[in-house]
Amino acid sequence: MTQLRAVVTGASSGIGAATVRAFRGAGWEVVAVARREERLRALADETGASVLVADVTDQADVDALRDRVRELGPIHALVNNAGGAKGLDSVEASDPEDWRWMFEVNVLGTKRVIAALLPLLREGAIERGVADIVNLTSIAGHVAYVGGGGYNAAKFAEHALTAVLRLELNGEPIRVIEVAPGMVKTDEFALVRFGGDRARADAVYDGVPEPLVAEDIAEIIVDAATKPRHVDLDLIVVKPVAQSAPHLVAKGPLTVRSAGRA
Ligand SMILES: NC(=O)c1ccc[n+]([C@@H]2O[C@H](COP(=O)([O-])OP(=O)(O)OC[C@H]3O[C@@H](n4cnc5c(N)ncnc54)[C@H](OP(=O)(O)O)[C@@H]3O)[C@@H](O)[C@H]2O)c1
Repeated sequence: MTQLRAVVTGASSGIGAATVRAFRGAGWEVVAVARREERLRALADETGASVLVADVTDQADVDALRDRVRELGPIHALVNNAGGAKGLDSVEASDPEDWRWMFEVNVLGTKRVIAALLPLLREGAIERGVADIVNLTSIAGHVAYVGGGGYNAAKFAEHALTAVLRLELNGEPIRVIEVAPGMVKTDEFALVRFGGDRARADAVYDGVPEPLVAEDIAEIIVDAATKPRHVDLDLIVVKPVAQSAPHLVAKGPLTVRSAGRA
């Protein structure tokens, strides 16, 4: 039987690290990619994943990543998870450098890694009958919100590139899967967004009953990548029950308004 192999970017924390654990739990070999080596090493010790230090915004790093992964063999899934938000200021007031960061990692990083690894995914598709590209966008890639600015723009762009890729790969046994989560309580997402301001980051989740956690998304990713090969989950939008839209999140316990019996 083919040994399945996945590459997961942004694997040093949050959704990416949970996805590495979930794939390993399902018996896959995993190459975990991020910039922080120490965290990757700890994840490797814990899970047995291979690790690769790379900045997805750097073409030389992505080329080296491709060469290293090629030595390991074909791949059957690529999870483009490296990404994030910076700032929550208006279009008028926000810092263009934050926008540049968001475009570099969410959009161009995803594009670079796809371009580098598609040949190895094609080899994997020949072996397995199908291969998967899973892009982590966000509900911010579908619905604008005040202060969303650069993050909305970057995630809308990542959604668009995912849709284009699906058209371009038509006829090949490669599924292009977009996972678009709402609020996921991870250690670092909000911390990065607010430049390391822990109090502001924690406040995002204050009072929110049961936000999603990284493991919820990881389970969905592995489920999508292990569906029968004719089943393509194109777009998976997943939110906590408390969140109806990016800007509409219930605080406090969820309560039934009326029992509803006449
Ligand atoms: N948390 C949420 O509410 C939420 C909701 C919807 C969508 N998402 C999306 O889900 C993905 C993961 O989010 P998360 O909550 O798990 O955030 P996170 O904990 O901040 O993880 C982001 C990961 O990306 C890596 N990364 C950042 N820049 C990179 C670069 N240039 N090259 C390589 N790796 C890079 C980081 O590792 P290093 O710093 O070590 O490189 C880290 O492992 C992101 O794309 C995010 O936009 C998150």
